[in-house]
Amino acid sequence: MTVLEGKQVLLGVTGGIAAYKAVELVRLLKKAGAGVDVAMTGAALRFVGKTTFEVLSENPVITNLWEDSHGSVAHIDVAARCNAAVIAPATANCVAKLAHGLADDALTTTFLAVTAPILICPAMNTHMYENIRVQRNLDLLEKDGVHILDPDFGTLACKTVGPGRLPDPWLIADRIEQMLTFKDLAGKNVLVSAGPTLEPIDPVRFVSNHSSGKMGYAVARAAEMRGAAVTLVTGPVSLSPPVGVDTVFVQTCHDMAEAMLTRMDGADIIIQVAAVADFRPDQQENLKIKKRSDQDGMTLTLVQNPDILRAMGERKRPDQFLVGFAAETHDLAANAVKKIEKKNLDMIAANLVGGKDTGFQADTNEMTIFFKDGSHTGIPLMDKPAVAHKILDAVLGRLEPGR
Ligand code: CTP
Repeated sequence: MTVLEGKQVLLGVTGGIAAYKAVELVRLLKKAGAGVDVAMTGAALRFVGKTTFEVLSENPVITNLWEDSHGSVAHIDVAARCNAAVIAPATANCVAKLAHGLADDALTTTFLAVTAPILICPAMNTHMYENIRVQRNLDLLEKDGVHILDPDFGTLACKTVGPGRLPDPWLIADRIEQMLTFKDLAGKNVLVSAGPTLEPIDPVRFVSNHSSGKMGYAVARAAEMRGAAVTLVTGPVSLSPPVGVDTVFVQTCHDMAEAMLTRMDGADIIIQVAAVADFRPDQQENLKIKKRSDQDGMTLTLVQNPDILRAMGERKRPDQFLVGFAAETHDLAANAVKKIEKKNLDMIAANLVGGKDTGFQADTNEMTIFFKDGSHTGIPLMDKPAVAHKILDAVLGRLEPGR
C-alpha cells in the first residue's frame, strides 16, 4: 500500500508531443490505488483523444467549461476534491498562464481553483525551456509553493538535444507520492547503505552475495519522501538511484567503510542495510588467473573484512541513532540481540533469509525489529517500500525529543 491509495489526483494535460506519456501516468496512479480526474487543453486533444483518458481514469474528462458541466460546476468539483494536482506535460504557454493567474480555458480555470499541492512538469523544446521568460515563470511558480519537476535531458521530438523531455511517468508518480507524504523526517540527515559489496579475486572474478539492494534503496527513498536529506552508499546493484537522494557508488567493503565513516558525523540517523561481504580474497591479482593443466583445483585464501557497523557503533555520538540489519537462517532473536550489544546499536531489523518471500532478491519482506532496551516489534509480510516505512516509523518512535 502506498500513500496514493485512496487519494484523488487531478491531472492536467497540455498540448505537447509528450501528452502520450500522460496516458501511462494515469495507469500508474490508478494501479497505486488513486482516483484520477483529467483536464485537457484543446491542443492536448490534438495529440491524444479524450476517450483514452476517460476509459483509463474511469471519470469524465474536462475539456470545455461550457460543455462538460452536468448540472454541477465540474471543474470546481474536481479542483476541490483532489489531494494533489499535476500538469504533465506543461507547455511554456501553460506555465506562463499559471504563473500569472490567467484562466482562459478549462484547464487553467480548474487549476486556479486547486488548493492541494501542485506539481508542474514542463516539457518543451530546449531553447524554449531555457528562455529567460519561461525560467522566470517557473521561478515565480516555485516561489508560490508550486513543485516543479525538471525535464530530462535527451533528444527531443524536434531533434534538438538538451533539457526538455518529459520525465518517465513512474518518476512523475514518484514525485506525486513524495508531495503527499507527511514530512516527519524534515530537518534530519539520514545515511543509508545498500546492496552487496564485491570483493575482487582478479579483474574478472569476485566474491559477493545475493543482495539486490531493494531493501536499502526502499529505506533511502522512504526517508527522502518523508523530508529527510538522504545519502545512500550503495554497492553494485541494478537499480536506479532514488530521486532526490545523494547516491555514492562503492564496490568493496573497504570503499563502503570509507564512504560511511567519512559521512557518519553529519548524520542523525544511520541505517546499515548493506550485505557487506564478511570475507575478501587475501590478495587481488592484477591479471586474470589462468587455469593450469598441472592443477585440478585452486585454493582461495579469504581474510576477514572490517565490520563497518561495529566501527560506526564505537564512534557514534549519543545524539545519533544507529540501525543495523541482521540476515539470519536460524535463532533470529538470539542472534539479533547479540548484534545490538556487540555493535552498540539502537535498533536492529532482523529477518530470516532463504524463504521465497523474504530476504535478498524478494520484493517483499517480513521482519522483527529489536531495540536496545530488549523490546521488539514485528513487521508482517509486505512489500519492501512498505517495510521501509515501518522501519522509519520504529526509528521515529524511539528518537528522543530533539534528537
Ligand atoms: N556488517 C558490517 N560490516 C561487516 C559485516 C556486517 O557493517 N563486515 C553489518 C551489516 O550491514 C548488518 C549487520 O552488520 O547491518 C549485521 O550483519 P550480518 O551479516 O547479519 O552479521 P555479521 O555481523 O556479519 O555476523 P554473522 O555473519 O556471523 O551473522
